[in-house]
Amino acid sequence: MSINIAIDGPVASGKGAVTKGLAKKLGFSALDTGAAYRAVTLFLLDNDIDIHDEKRILLTLNKIDLRIFSAQNHDLRVFTQGQDVTPRIRDNKVSLAVPVVAAYIGVREYVNRQIAAVASQGNYIMEGRDIGTVVLPNAQYKFFLTASLEVRAKRRKADLDAKGEYYSLLEVMAQIKERDEQDINRIIAPLKQAPDAIYIDNSNLTLEQTIDTLAKYIKL
Ligand code: CDP
Repeated sequence: MSINIAIDGPVASGKGAVTKGLAKKLGFSALDTGAAYRAVTLFLLDNDIDIHDEKRILLTLNKIDLRIFSAQNHDLRVFTQGQDVTPRIRDNKVSLAVPVVAAYIGVREYVNRQIAAVASQGNYIMEGRDIGTVVLPNAQYKFFLTASLEVRAKRRKADLDAKGEYYSLLEVMAQIKERDEQDINRIIAPLKQAPDAIYIDNSNLTLEQTIDTLAKYIKL
């Protein structure tokens, strides 16, 4: 029987790096579901499709040839229309638009179909917003990872600085807060802790310490 681990949490809570590190440690595959929502959003932005035009977005979805590959080293590659868009899905314009797009039920159904196909084989760690609550309600292990707003904003600012996208810490804090509110307050599959998820605040933990904290709960 395959083992699934669900990791949910707010923006820049460390889910991506923790998922990758834990997958390496346990020999699992890793799947970042946010990447699929980001790829859909990037496609809409690139094609000048209004992110508030739900009807048009629904008609566009079946034209997106989205492919997600989890590479051997746990790095994720995302392709649309045969093009590798992985480096662009984390641009800040995508981050700001993605919560609007991810709130549409049609988009969620589309992404869930894509990820179900990937995750049906083998042991998986899946990370996102609704993994423990909606996507994998029967996951053997569920974690809700978070950190203080300030710590998360500092992490995201460092990511953006490294990409040459410069914002003040206060701007990044405001952007993160707004994105979290959109994810928490949407009607369908909102961000929330599953009742059986283990809550981990990693504000004062290094990446290694966080990975070790999660790993201690997992008995294989
Ligand atoms: O990396 P970051 O914390 O900025 O976000 P992400 O994990 O890449 O997810 C981007 C966005 O996709 C989130 O803000 C949600 O709006 C949406 N998302 C979702 O709705 N459900 C998921 N399972 C994963 C992501």
